[in-house]
Amino acid sequence: MKILKEASNDSVVKIHGWVKWARATGIVMEYLPSGCLGQFVDEDDRLHPALILRMALEIASGLAHLHSRQLVHGDIKPENILLTEDLHCKIGDFGSASLHGLTGATTATKSKKTNYDCTMVYAAPERMTKLNSKPTKEQDVYSFGMLLYVLMSAKQPLQGVSEAAFIDAIKKGDRPDKSEIEDLKRNTEVPQIVAGLEDAIDACWVQSPNDRPSMVVVQNKMQNLFCNVEDVLLQTLSKDISDKIKQTLDVAKVEETQELVELQHFLPESGQFTKGLFFL
Ligand SMILES: Nc1ncnc2c1ncn2[C@@H]1O[C@H](COP(=O)(O)OP(=O)(O)O)[C@@H](O)[C@H]1O
Ligand SMILES: [Mg+2]
Repeated sequence: MKILKEASNDSVVKIHGWVKWARATGIVMEYLPSGCLGQFVDEDDRLHPALILRMALEIASGLAHLHSRQLVHGDIKPENILLTEDLHCKIGDFGSASLHGLTGATTATKSKKTNYDCTMVYAAPERMTKLNSKPTKEQDVYSFGMLLYVLMSAKQPLQGVSEAAFIDAIKKGDRPDKSEIEDLKRNTEVPQIVAGLEDAIDACWVQSPNDRPSMVVVQNKMQNLFCNVEDVLLQTLSKDISDKIKQTLDVAKVEETQELVELQHFLPESGQFTKGLFFL
């Protein structure tokens, strides 16, 4: 917990500390009001490639930072990327995080480790064969590649395939179909961005962990792409973002109300919930 608290970065959810009750421990962290990236994977309302690039850059820089501190996240997926009101990304959910090079130092509980179903899509092939092994930096890189694929293709990889078939295919070295990304490349005003993001997907999800780039390398690639086309991006982004923020806040408002009710039920003294802090 101390290590997480010190691993602060603009693209990582800030951990303020923790509280202990008789039978539970709560993490006190920065409150992010706009939900998670998972809610933006929508074929009918695709994110602009420029916005995806900015998100990819932020997630890559957060992951590179964690890796530089020998922290492995272990569960990178859109649902674990939280959003600020202006759609900047921060990495959250350290429930599967572990320290690289140390045995047994993981924050995951037993039930969390075995309850791997919904994260399977983002698990690297070598992880699929050894579910209870410790996550690695290379597996985070793979998951980042799959996350980027999901954002770019705007579809869930399990659409029309059973989970078992998906796992078999990934283990054999197959990857989900990229036709949506190819279409996007032909029909966008920013083909160089789409091509750059596609290259990052291809590099990150390769089969052999040793052939995957480090997150610093990915971050630099994203940074170069972002610098080269910044003017075009910023114009497009500002409109895209302001539209999305409006929708997000409407959705988040409803979810926040539900979460507050759940929290008040969970916490021993409901008065301990302070706006701006989020207890788990
Ligand atoms: N710091 C936070 N601020 C606002 N919402 C949060 C925060 N942390 C988590 N959430 C919400 O709770 C959901 C689940 O949290 P997460 O940490 O991913 O736990 P788990 O996946 O283990 O249930 C997130 O998708 C998000 O909607
Ligand atoms: Mg989660």
